[in-house]
Amino acid sequence: MDISPLQKARYEYQPKLPGMLRHGIADICVEEGEATQSVGDQEKIKALFPNTYGKKEITFKKGKNTSADKKQVVGVILSGGQAPGGHNVICGLYDALKASNKDNILYGFKKGPQGLVDDDFIEFSDEFIDMYRNTGGFDIIGSGRTKLETEEQFKIVTEVAKKHGLTAIVIIGGDDSNTNAAVLAEYFAAHNVGVQVIGCPKTIDGDLKNEDIECSFGFDTATKTFSELIGNIERDANSAKKYWHFVKVMGRSASHVALECALKTQPNVCLISEEVAAKKMSLSQIADYIADSVEKRAAKGMNFGVAIIPEGVVEFVPEFSALIKEINELLAGSKAEAFNALKSWKEKYAFIENGLSKESMAVFAILPEGIQQQLFLERDPHGNVQVSLIESEKLFSALVKAKLEERRKNGTYKGKFSTLHHFFGYEGRCAFPSNFDADYCYSLGYNAFMLIMYGYNGYLSKVSNLAKPAEQWVAGGMPITKMMNMERRHGEDKPVIRKALVELDGKPFQYFEAHRAEWAENTCYTYPGAIQYYGPSEVCDLTTITLALEKA
Ligand code: FBP
Repeated sequence: MDISPLQKARYEYQPKLPGMLRHGIADICVEEGEATQSVGDQEKIKALFPNTYGKKEITFKKGKNTSADKKQVVGVILSGGQAPGGHNVICGLYDALKASNKDNILYGFKKGPQGLVDDDFIEFSDEFIDMYRNTGGFDIIGSGRTKLETEEQFKIVTEVAKKHGLTAIVIIGGDDSNTNAAVLAEYFAAHNVGVQVIGCPKTIDGDLKNEDIECSFGFDTATKTFSELIGNIERDANSAKKYWHFVKVMGRSASHVALECALKTQPNVCLISEEVAAKKMSLSQIADYIADSVEKRAAKGMNFGVAIIPEGVVEFVPEFSALIKEINELLAGSKAEAFNALKSWKEKYAFIENGLSKESMAVFAILPEGIQQQLFLERDPHGNVQVSLIESEKLFSALVKAKLEERRKNGTYKGKFSTLHHFFGYEGRCAFPSNFDADYCYSLGYNAFMLIMYGYNGYLSKVSNLAKPAEQWVAGGMPITKMMNMERRHGEDKPVIRKALVELDGKPFQYFEAHRAEWAENTCYTYPGAIQYYGPSEVCDLTTITLALEKA
């Protein structure tokens, strides 16, 4: 295999473990804390998880290992979207497992949860693992979005586990995958299957965090990668002085990624979906907000700028959500056929005009035609609009353009407005993990094995105190049920891990809020540059500004 010089060098990188895990497996003991309660709906969660609810928080310490001497056969899966560092979770798990007993076995089930159902696996060896150390991607075993949630799937997984003599399964995934990990753990406990389930917190979106999990892995590297690109664009904008760049960044619903990139690069505008929802902003108000920055800068002779748009923002605009609901209704069942049979966009437009309420039609009418067509043409298998495909960066630049035309007529705006559009998402999901993610992920995997060794089931591997140097990180585990509450999903009440959205009273948003007026009007760009893997610690071991502010 041809490998780059960086890949070769990264193979040699030795990830840093928390101080308490550095003494060798024989010298790691466990300290149990208080019994836990779920964050909401305690009675309901307790009733649904009678065998795994209320367990104790645990922390590892230096001390004699008192775990039972048992051969371990562990299965691991990667679940959901790629996030930098996934390979290192597996490497950390493998190294701890082999350090404890070289006869222990680690199986990787391929293509995500489906691999467990299909019994599609590989057995890891030193040579194989070594090819993936400190690299990005999930190609070591692949990933997938199948949900493990039905009784039937659990029965099959039980058979697969028995066939291989598995003692534990490690699920590396986001909030949904770890919710399913908790349900599987409960199933195994209730049926005395004798297999433990441990989760590891993954997602570039940064929305799997709470008072126990300080951040999900991958968020650090992905936001550093996007911020490098945004910083480069800012510098280009400031050099050429002729374009406004609209940059959409991934992150699904939550705006953690957008906010972190804004804190790193100080753009002129960054929308925060959670604020849009809290203030019930309309598309027109958002467009005016951006146009204010364009106008103020134009008045100072600066006809350029950078605006960051979070991927999920349109879902948070109340009038837009109402429009989407109506469109889904309008095309439900056989009505879609009648719509599809219409030949021209003009006829289709008339059909839409007839079917939408006056309020939704008013919102629809202001959308650029390309976006209008996207709403009707690109639908999922259930016929619903695929909101994530909407090119919101183009939507907002078009709406801002229209606002500026009005302002030009009113004589308040005299500038030029040329736009360019970007979408950053996939660019950051498989980057070489930053030192932070390489260390954090390796620690999560190593720590997951310690949880297995000590017999815990239904726990999330927890490494905290992350704003401090790795030596001071704290390793342990938290029952997943502690992070759960009941939420309405697809018309049913379900036990789920609470998704973390950006908190408007949290320090990261407040810092942004305190500075954004100045960033909007002036050119205060900061250029983070590329991720540094080698060199002084202050540039190589930096974590996110979000984490630094939250833990300050
Ligand atoms: P998860 O970590 O929650 O699986 O999602 C990460 C993510 O990159 C989101 O930011 C994005 O909306 C989605 O995956 C894209 O999904 P896909 O890879 O299926 O295109």
